This record gives sequence, structure tokens and C-alpha cells, in this order.
Amino acid sequence: LAGVATDRSVVLIGFMGAGKSTVARELGRALDVEALDSDALLEQRLGHSIAREFELHGEESFRAAEEELVCELLAQAGRDGRGERFARVIALGGGSILSSRVRAALAGHLTVFLDVDPEVAWARLHSSRQRPLARDRDAFFALAAQRRELYEELADAFVPGPGADGDSAEIVGGVLHAVGVLARAPVGTRLVWASAAGGEYPVLVGRGLVTRAGEELAGVWPLDPQRSRPFCVTDEMVGALYGERLQALGPLVGTLAIGAGESHKTLQSAERVWRELAARGMTRSDHVVALGGGVVGDLAGFCAATYQRGLPVVHVPSTLVAQVDSAFGGKTGVDLPEAKNYVGAYHQPAGVIVDPELLRSLPEAELAAGWVEVLKTALIAGGTLWERVSTDAMPASFAAADEWTILECLRTKLTVVAEDERDGGRRQVLNLGHTVGHAIETATGYARYRHGEAVGLGLLAALRLSGAQELRERVRELLQARGLPTSLGDARVTTGEIVAASARDKKRLGEGPVPFVLIDGPGRVRIGCPVDEAALEAAVVELMSR
Ligand SMILES: NC(=O)c1ccc[n+]([C@@H]2O[C@H](COP(=O)([O-])OP(=O)(O)OC[C@H]3O[C@@H](n4cnc5c(N)ncnc54)[C@H](O)[C@@H]3O)[C@@H](O)[C@H]2O)c1
Repeated sequence: LAGVATDRSVVLIGFMGAGKSTVARELGRALDVEALDSDALLEQRLGHSIAREFELHGEESFRAAEEELVCELLAQAGRDGRGERFARVIALGGGSILSSRVRAALAGHLTVFLDVDPEVAWARLHSSRQRPLARDRDAFFALAAQRRELYEELADAFVPGPGADGDSAEIVGGVLHAVGVLARAPVGTRLVWASAAGGEYPVLVGRGLVTRAGEELAGVWPLDPQRSRPFCVTDEMVGALYGERLQALGPLVGTLAIGAGESHKTLQSAERVWRELAARGMTRSDHVVALGGGVVGDLAGFCAATYQRGLPVVHVPSTLVAQVDSAFGGKTGVDLPEAKNYVGAYHQPAGVIVDPELLRSLPEAELAAGWVEVLKTALIAGGTLWERVSTDAMPASFAAADEWTILECLRTKLTVVAEDERDGGRRQVLNLGHTVGHAIETATGYARYRHGEAVGLGLLAALRLSGAQELRERVRELLQARGLPTSLGDARVTTGEIVAASARDKKRLGEGPVPFVLIDGPGRVRIGCPVDEAALEAAVVELMSR
């Protein structure tokens, strides 16, 4: 990180057990700057351990001393805001951000949230008995949930904390990448470090990253456009609106615009892309840019996965579906007339650039359809996301696209994918509503419903199969309030056709029944649930009635 000197520091925040002290030390070495640890400095100042301070004077006295010290550290470090060289790395005690003075003092520094799974943190800490707040399991988990929102609010970068093995090398790599990119990014840009078995990559979220596309775009681009030539795949609509913005990267090798919409997510379109890549002489050192919605992302990702057995792809999602869901996690593919997403590959992106401003030109009906993926994610995640989505706190119109919701949804998806990239278990939760949803899309020839609209109907079927009638009614109301279909009344499709298409779902193994994802309540999703044909038929019949 050579560059201009700055007084700005990299500040690590996160719950106890996230490994902040170790990461700070290693980061300090890598950046060649001083690394400080507020807990250790406080113990020096107090002349005894934090545990002892709790015993002698209680938590309140500890918090007051901590606030004083952390504010001093952050003030000394200054607040010049930009630049590629950092003054120091500071690991903050997990609870220090409870102080509004500390939160205010963080402004101008680069704040990295090390996001540790509370189960891992508990396993790391409780046996040592050195942490006064890690003695009671329930209190520990409640505290983790309570603080999470504050960490999220303050974070410029989100990096997954240690796994059960406690290895910090990957974390340090992620933080180094994050601070390197954010140092060059427009102010207000946030970075999520995505990590899955198939690869790690940065996700940048920032208003204007693409729509205002200045020189900064090349600076934050995940690959060096001088060394790896970009080829853009888009659709006719998005290409006409935003294709030119990518010129900020330097000259593109070429652009190919497919027709807009699901009916173009085909092998024929893939062949066009492959042949165009070949005609342009693209090699594996070059990369594909997928500029568009989920259709472009799935198709371009698939072409990138297969052309010369794989070249990198950078996603620039332009619909709500793509910004909250499809651009992440590496599932790529095309539809067959027989069934949806039947041919494809897992191929993690080299990076994702999310500019919520792109949604301004998205037609209302597409926003509404995309909102169904938000609703699905909220049902899976439960907690604050569900509370916000289900109480309609989120604007029906995304004209002022809600960045918090986009971030929350994409982080939920990335967390699930990190646990299970290839759909062997946990990732299946993401298919909530999709078995019947995909069947509806296939049975209606990919032309009657938008993907999100079909998933909305699929959610209603899944809720009925789950016996969650009250929740089904709430979801139905939410869909209806956005003008989304809640019945198949006029779709010219039979129950039998949908049931038959459901049976061809890719999740089915051998001759066995299609395993369903069912839900007991927000945040409580079950995978691999057998459903008998009569129950499925009844759920589809319910959708048939207006
Ligand atoms: N890979 C995954 O994990 C995953 C997850 C969810 C959905 N998907 C797939 O995503 C697809 C649906 O994606 P979608 O809903 O984004 O559909 P889409 O890509 O067809 O886009 C919808 C429409 O909006 C237009 N559009 C896109 N961006 C625009 C913008 N900024 N301004 C104006 N118009 C714009 C497009 O031209 C298109 O007509 C489905 O094929 C689904 O299977 C994949």
C-alpha cells in the first residue's frame, strides 16, 4: 500500500472472540505500521486485568475508562479521510462502540467489522474464564445479537471472522484487500469480503460506483483492466442505458447484448456469447463483465465458467433480484424448455460491484418482483431483516433504494454460501419457495411471470405445505400490497402441469421425492422435507383459486 501519508487508521471492531488482537498484529506487520490493542492498553493503564476491574469497580467504571482511552487513540490518529497509507491499526474492545463518543470518533477512519459466528466465539472464550461477559451462555448470545447492529452500522468493510479452526491468515488477507480497495474508493463505499470454498472475492456497494463511473471505477475494479481485458455481456435494455459507463475501465474488448428477459437465458444465447468471445480472441487471462439482471448474470457467468474451461467474471448487477441475490454465490446456468436452470456450473465471481443507483431506471413491476427475493431472504434470516420487511418499513418503491436492505440480504446469502457452496445442505434454505416457483415458470413457458412473481407464488405454496397458515396470510398481504400475483387464477396452466414440473426440480435425487424447504417461522427454515403428492396438489389448487 504505497501512497500518500494519512492520519487515518484501520480500526477493527467486532464481538469478543473475533480475533481482533491477533489480526491487528498481523495486519500491522503487513502494512508496516504500529498495531495497538485497546484492551491491552487499558490493562496497562489500570494496572490490572479487565476481569479484575469488573470485580473491583464493576462494568460501568470499566466502560468509562475504556471510552476515555479509545477516544484518545482515535483522536490522535486524526481524520483526514482518504489516502492509501494508514497511520496505525487499532483493535477495539468489543463493547467500546456502545459509547456514542467512540462511535462519533470513528468517522474518518477505516472501520473493519470482523464478523464472528457467536458459536465460534463462545467456544473460543468461555472455557478460559478470563472474560467476565463470557460466562453465561444465554447472556453472551443476547449480547452478540444486540451489538451486531451497531457493528454493521459502523462498518466500512465486513470480513468474516475466524472459523472453528481459528486460522487468521485468510482474515488478514481479506482485510488487506478490503483496506487496499477502500482507500481508493469513493467515500461511502462499503466492502463485503465474500468467502466460499470455490474462492474469495470483494463485493463493493456504493451509490454512483457505476452510474457516475469516473476514474475511480478502474481503481476499485477487482481485476486490472490493463492486464485482464474486459468483455461485457449485457442485455439490450441495460446495455443501452449503462453500457457506456464501463468505458471508464478503459477500452472494452467488446460488448454483446442479448435480448432482454428470461426467454433469452438459453443455450442459443450462450453459444452466441462463446462464439463472440472466440472471435475476439479472449483468453483465460481476460475476463467477462456481466452487466444486467439475473438473466445476464446467470448466462454470462455460465459462459465464463465454460469458455476455455473457465475465465473470471465480474458481476455488475442492475436489478433488485441480482443485487440482493443472483450475483452472489456462484450459481450460473441456462434454462431448457424442459426445466429451469437445468444446465449450469458453479463459478464464483472475481468480484461484484453493486450500485443501488442503477435501480432508479428499473420499472416498478421489476422492483416489485425483485422485492420477493428480499422477502424470501427475510423469511430465511428472521430477526431485524424480517421485522423491517414485514412491517413495511421498506419503501414500496425503490426509487430511493434502501442500501441497508441490499447489504443485509447479500450478506445473508454470502453467509449461507460460505457454509455450503454446492447445495449439499445449508444452502438449500435459499430455495425456499423456488421448487413450485420454478415449476410455475417452466409450466408457463418462462413468459407469463417474472422470476420474482413466480417465487412469490412458490412461497405461498411452501407456507401452506409448512402448515404456517398465519404466516402465509401475512406474506399474501405483503405480496398483494405490492401488486404481486397471489393466485394462478388466469395463468392458463393446470395443477397437474405444475405438479409434474415440480417433480423435475433439480433438487430431486434418483427416483426419490423432491425435497422441499419448509418454514416454521421467520428464521426457522427446514431443508430436505419430503412432501407427498396429494399435499403438493392441494397447495397448488389453493393457488388456483382467486
Ligand atoms: N444464480 C442465482 O443464484 C440466482 C438467484 C436468483 C435468481 N436467479 C435468476 O435470475 C433471473 C431473474 O433475474 P431478474 O429478475 O434480474 O431478471 P432480468 O435479468 O430478466 O431483468 C428483468 C428486466 O429488467 C431489465 N433491466 C435490468 N436492469 C435494469 C435497469 N437498471 N433499468 C431498467 N431495466 C433494467 C432487463 O432488461 C429485463 O427486461 C432468473 O433467471 C433467475 O433464475 C439466479
